[in-house]
Amino acid sequence: MNKLNSLAILLISLSLFSCKPATENSDAELDKKVDSVLALMTLEEKIGQLTLYTSDMDQTGAFIRKEYEQDIKDGKVGSIFNAYGAVYTRKLQDMAMTTRMKIPLMFGYDVIHGHRTIFPIPLGEAASWDMDAIELAARVAATEAAAEGLHWTFAPMCDIARDPRWGRILEGAGEDPYLGSLIARARVRGFQNNDLKATNTVAACVKHFAAYGAAQAGRDYHSVDMSERMLREVYLPPYQAAIEAGAVTVMTSFNDLNGIPATASKYLMTDILRNEWNFKGFVVTDYTSIMELMHHGVAADTAHAAELSVNAGVDMDMQSGFYNHSLAKLVSEKKVSEAQINEAVKRILRVKFQLGLFEDPYRYCSEEREKQLIMNPGFLESARDVARKSIVLLKNKNNVLPISKSVKTIAVIGPHADNKRDLIASWSAAGNWTKSVSLLEGIKSQLPDANILYAKGCNLNDDSTQYIEQAVKIAMQADVVVLALGEPAWMSGEAASRANLNLPGVQQQLAEALQETGKPVAVVLMNGRPLTINWLAANVPAILETWFLGTQAGHAIADVLFGNYNPSGKLPVTFPRSVGQIPIYYSMKNTGRPMNPNDKYTSKYLDVSNEPLYPFGFGLSYTTFKYSEPTLNSTEILATDTLKVSIEISNTGKYTGEETVQLYIKDLVATVARPVKELKAFKKVKIKAGESQKIEFSITAADLSFYRADMSFGTEPGEFTVMVGTNSNETKNVNFKLK
Ligand code: NOJ
Repeated sequence: MNKLNSLAILLISLSLFSCKPATENSDAELDKKVDSVLALMTLEEKIGQLTLYTSDMDQTGAFIRKEYEQDIKDGKVGSIFNAYGAVYTRKLQDMAMTTRMKIPLMFGYDVIHGHRTIFPIPLGEAASWDMDAIELAARVAATEAAAEGLHWTFAPMCDIARDPRWGRILEGAGEDPYLGSLIARARVRGFQNNDLKATNTVAACVKHFAAYGAAQAGRDYHSVDMSERMLREVYLPPYQAAIEAGAVTVMTSFNDLNGIPATASKYLMTDILRNEWNFKGFVVTDYTSIMELMHHGVAADTAHAAELSVNAGVDMDMQSGFYNHSLAKLVSEKKVSEAQINEAVKRILRVKFQLGLFEDPYRYCSEEREKQLIMNPGFLESARDVARKSIVLLKNKNNVLPISKSVKTIAVIGPHADNKRDLIASWSAAGNWTKSVSLLEGIKSQLPDANILYAKGCNLNDDSTQYIEQAVKIAMQADVVVLALGEPAWMSGEAASRANLNLPGVQQQLAEALQETGKPVAVVLMNGRPLTINWLAANVPAILETWFLGTQAGHAIADVLFGNYNPSGKLPVTFPRSVGQIPIYYSMKNTGRPMNPNDKYTSKYLDVSNEPLYPFGFGLSYTTFKYSEPTLNSTEILATDTLKVSIEISNTGKYTGEETVQLYIKDLVATVARPVKELKAFKKVKIKAGESQKIEFSITAADLSFYRADMSFGTEPGEFTVMVGTNSNETKNVNFKLK
């Protein structure tokens, strides 16, 4: 299908079923409606609204536990998660409609990177540095999810992650607060489209608040201990950005932050979220994190856990059932005020009103929309396009890539070469892996006349080497080898921390044997996190980082392999050389003894360099770009001025290409040691071969501000360096003074 056709289908299908509300509710009107419902509710019914239970699946499909079914009918449940499908959600909603108050259920689900049409893992999408693409991916996900009766997604995950041992790094936008904040906004816009009532949007949930990505040693659920400066400068901005973009719900995190579990943290849930950020939506726990307060050792029993949580400002209890069991008693004992419960109920009812559920509890379950929208060709085309944009070219010695389409014999080898199951990866919601396009299928569809040989070569994660010989044999017959390696999907995601980031099993051995053949080897990596691929980086000529690209992975990778699409992705996270370097990120501090190879007593390792394997922002293209020296409109500015930074980028290669031009800043002398550089702006530009483009960035005081020694936020006068470049490690610099 040509691009215009598919775009047309997409736009039509996105707008066809979007039903705009007749009139917008003003805040005051909304509050009035909410109050009028609240006034009629018993305490038990109120507590019911604070309760979220799961639906389950077994061989025969979705079902609801008998006790939960009774709770719904008794008005003791306000929302259900893990239930979708027009027919099934209607059946559950029917139960809520038999209750005295007839308050509609809200259906939530983890729609993280697509619902049925699966897009790249979020870390992969982040590598596109393309906010329109990221927003579109969330729109498509919301459109499919809403058609199946869902109202609410547990996304976006806004956790900054600087530790690739942590398996959930795949769910976020990587290591940087600036990029992470832009992506958080794009995802919220995509899910909510500023119109919760439309039947092609879902409520977003900002998670996991807060600082879950900083789990000690990369071990999931582990404690987080960090300074307030680090919290505010690095970890909080993406959550705040998502809330500013209108996200109406927030999920607590499992971790404790400086000793206080997030789910019991008044500091996070009330002081920061509500009082500082003016958040008006509701807060839900992450799964049974109220129950986990007992394991943390801050709650003695069920009731104590519920008390700590509700008093901290946590409105909805996911799955532990502690609110249902304990809140009424806590109110009678005056440990929790009914006013506190009223506030929580109001926040939840507000979102139900915003979704239009009181007008029509069934407005999101539509068999017709399901039929029309789920995995329609326009959505698949979008998934393919976003997937192509997420691919990062890490190495391309001797221009092994792109491979000519007139190649005679190509060997497609590796445990991921003909793997469909893993492509949709962790958190693939209602995705069906059998519908995904494997790399081998993608290659076959683009090379109808070539001789395509296939061998698995080895398994993803065991030590059997018996298939390597056969793989070498077919490689010997080929003109070029495409070698698909990586992690099995289960190795990243929740509860999937690793202490070793090498390619699992005998995959490197397979790569070594194939490299020995002397044939050009292009490695296609599929993985949910940065890996320590030092051997590959040093030896094979070409490497494409493809993450897990979703339903259309095979087509998207083939588009890049054969040059239909010139890769433009840039790493949103640093690739270490060794686990021992972690945490390693580009915006480190200089230290008092910056690394000097000739001086032992400087900050470095004895056994590994300080340099990453691939720096943040890194990514090659089939063409080459040359950067001019950056120029400034002035070398001295006032805090009220806008500094203009200009640079000319020339495409000096043979292909039209896209380049993400990155701008970093360093404050040279301040009352607080500042990072060696911080990303403050970027622009993605498309330039034809032989042409040049002038790019201008605007820098204002906001970009130069930080938490000063006294924790006030603002600028300090002095000298700054502006660095513009193709990645965080290769920049051209110029200085200016802030007066
Ligand atoms: C636990 C995960 O941490 C969270 O991200 C997810 O949304 C909930 N489970 C619900 O599935």
